[in-house]
Amino acid sequence: MKTPVDIAVTGAAGQISYSLLFRLAAGDLLGPDQPIVLRLLEITPAMEVLKGVVMELHDCAFPLLHKVIITDDPKVAFDNVDYAFLVGAKPRKQGMLRSDLLSQNAEIFLVQGQALNEVANRNVKVLVTGNPANTNAYLAINHAPDLAPECFAAMTMLDHTRAVSQLAQKCGVPTRDIKNMTVWGNHSCMQYPDLHNALVMGRPALDLVEQDWFVDEFMPIVQYRGAEVIKARGQSSAASAANAAIMHMSTWIHGTAEGDWVSMAVPSDGSYGIESGLVFSFPVTVADGQYAIVKGLDMNEFSLERLRQNEAELMEERKAVKHLL
Ligand code: NAD
Ligand code: LMR
Repeated sequence: MKTPVDIAVTGAAGQISYSLLFRLAAGDLLGPDQPIVLRLLEITPAMEVLKGVVMELHDCAFPLLHKVIITDDPKVAFDNVDYAFLVGAKPRKQGMLRSDLLSQNAEIFLVQGQALNEVANRNVKVLVTGNPANTNAYLAINHAPDLAPECFAAMTMLDHTRAVSQLAQKCGVPTRDIKNMTVWGNHSCMQYPDLHNALVMGRPALDLVEQDWFVDEFMPIVQYRGAEVIKARGQSSAASAANAAIMHMSTWIHGTAEGDWVSMAVPSDGSYGIESGLVFSFPVTVADGQYAIVKGLDMNEFSLERLRQNEAELMEERKAVKHLL
């Protein structure tokens, strides 16, 4: 048996974690021969609920689940971890924008950035899911000066899979036949789900669907899907968010498939004119555990304008938390 790998999950008593933890313990991230230690962080008042979740984890008798540690101290949760899922944060309710959560959640990511900086493995991969995810990741990076900014990413994989699914349904093909989907920018309704490079069974998506469908249906469906799920379920997406978190981290570890890419919100290196350092969703390929932003894509004025709108929104969010930077 291999040596167990430590994985931290914050917000472990919440609804996303209720799906995420069981999939991690079943081996969905690291495979069927890799034992794991789950290091679960919660706030003190949620500890009793978390104990119930841990009972259920044990009751599954997962062969790969070596140990479960629960704590309300980020330094215990992140001690020597290789992977950290930062899920713990308030979700929005019906009628709210994700940016409405900024003031309530920002401090969490400042404290957790500091703790990761002190105790995490120097090669840790940190995925921020808690909203507003891009700016929370920006804050965490800002408070982790001894970790490379490339250790951090924010989750736009759910937007990516939503976009893939919509296009696959429209074209009547399985989702595996869709390649090179891109969601640019912020995980907000400003995000730009872009079909200009997407392929359907190797053919350009925009040769197969009408421009009107792309702009007036596909884009708003993906942009407002989170709000629609909240309206229908009364709470924000959970199982699909957990799936996206596994998919993001798994791609970061195992790499992208030949001839395909995924969308990840990562610190900008100035590509496509986006201000360096902003955590912005780009098309990325991954090899050997390192992501690379896909460079040199042709961008028309329609696309560039949407990138600029996202950059402006993220700069506004950054301004709103500047007292914490
Ligand atoms: P939830 O309210 O069910 O669970 C959140 C948990 O975090 C709670 O148990 C809470 O006690 C805990 N928590 C709060 N502060 C914490 C802290 N400082 N340390 C550790 N834990 C803490 O919420 P949820 O539905 O699981 O959603 C979690 C977050 O993920 C929300 O911000 C939501 O908006 C976001 N989200 C993001 C995406 C995405 O695509 N990026 C998708 C879905 C949800
Ligand atoms: C989502 O996209 O489903 C999440 O970010 C939750 C939300 O507030 O929309």
